[in-house]
Amino acid sequence: MGSRRTLLLAGAALLGSLALAEEPALDPYSGFKMAGDWEIVRANCIACHSPKLVTQQRGTEAQWLNIIRWMQATQNLAQFDPETERKIVTYLAEYYPPEKDRRRAPIPPDLMPPNPYSTVTNQAQ
Ligand code: HEC
Repeated sequence: MGSRRTLLLAGAALLGSLALAEEPALDPYSGFKMAGDWEIVRANCIACHSPKLVTQQRGTEAQWLNIIRWMQATQNLAQFDPETERKIVTYLAEYYPPEKDRRRAPIPPDLMPPNPYSTVTNQAQ
């Protein structure tokens, strides 16, 4: 009886720690996930805009690097030394990667209402 309860508690604790391992805690100041080189990102990415602009974005390393290049070309963002830039891009791609399911699946055509603006007549909607 007592041992079963202990086992359950141990199981719950294990699940809890697994969940924590998956989702790093958030920095109360910036909202960044506190893992990896997050402090380098916080030091370099929140001077000009809200950190939310960063944390709501998703991308691969190439996509994050593109955003950085775009800011450097058009928004006065300074060049980083290569080491710092690599750490920033690695962190962002690891903790803010592209998400597969950000959009719902399209509604099947047979569940759609007729399109009132359709210029095609005689077409099954
Ligand atoms: C020198 C100022 C400056 C710094 C530092 C800066 N940004 Fe930006 N960033 C901007 C400006 C300006 C915009 C455009 C803001 C707007 O549209 O309101 C922007 C926009 C963005 C966007 C939105 C892009 C889009 O397509 O909407 C992201 C994501 C972003 N920044 C990420 C970062 C990251 C990551 C860093 C750190 C490497 C960073 N920023 C550092 C100036 C900066």
